[in-house]
Amino acid sequence: MTAGPRVVVVGALPTVGADLLRQRFVVEAGGSRPERSWMLEHAPGAVAIVADPSIPIDAELLDIAGGSLKVVANFAVGHDNIDVEAARERGVRATNTPDVLTNATAELAIALMLAAARRVAEADALTRSGRWPPEDQILGRELAGATVGLVGFGRIARRVTQLLRCFDVRLLFTSRSEAPARHGAERRDLGELLADSDFVSLHVPLTSETRHLIDATRLAQVKPGAILVNTSRGAVVDTPALVDALRSGRLGAAGLDVYEDEPHVPRSLRELPNTVLLPHLGSATGATRDAMARLCVENVIAVIEGREPPAPVV
Ligand code: 8YV
Repeated sequence: MTAGPRVVVVGALPTVGADLLRQRFVVEAGGSRPERSWMLEHAPGAVAIVADPSIPIDAELLDIAGGSLKVVANFAVGHDNIDVEAARERGVRATNTPDVLTNATAELAIALMLAAARRVAEADALTRSGRWPPEDQILGRELAGATVGLVGFGRIARRVTQLLRCFDVRLLFTSRSEAPARHGAERRDLGELLADSDFVSLHVPLTSETRHLIDATRLAQVKPGAILVNTSRGAVVDTPALVDALRSGRLGAAGLDVYEDEPHVPRSLRELPNTVLLPHLGSATGATRDAMARLCVENVIAVIEGREPPAPVV
């Protein structure tokens, strides 16, 4: 039997993170999508659980882990998979990986805006299948001169506004807090933003308040033909309402990186020509994922050594 404090690692943690953990801990890795039963079997006695947003960390799991558990370290900025209140009540710290993934995710949001507007996925499929010249011209839209509405104005949305400066767009944003306007972006309430924006990009965390924030009622408020981009969480959008809006042409297109029930992507979305569908790649660059791994492990080490972690959630 191996001695030493034990860390349970589940999810997409890169090798650099696992190697750093092994220098100090006994690491038990459950793979990227372990069965719940694996989690329940291996959590007891662990000092830390490293997880990603696809792994629910709830009160039952925290109780089964028991008093040894000091920290749940998410390999992500989002922490909607963790029952943060249950962790707080049990004196377990929760941490995340903000900042290091801000630029990668902002760039991907812009990639989705451009891909959806210029019909990149549709055109790529057509070229590969030898249907060039196409029966109908593949005409798209430009960002220049458009109004881009950012729902939420945290780090990633602010980086999007900064990167979009050279695209000659008008920028709107919504924010719950009194976030100061930046880079010429103007604050609006959600209804006004939806009505005025040619592109709507979602940048809110998933909470009980933002679940299905973009529902049929909100989708009826969008400017006809607008393009919706989601790099936040799938459940911020009501998927059947989204499909209806895309089918009816109320929405011109959608660029999606996230879904309500990942990795399941509904057939109704896959069959629509006016969607660009990515498999949750927001933070997926080599450099960013490695930086996330290092920060995630620094969080674990700090808590186990009795120090304040660099990126605490609770
Ligand atoms: C994932 C994310 O963590 O940071 C987040 O909130 O959703 C992503 O960065 C990443 O895909 C690993 O699963």
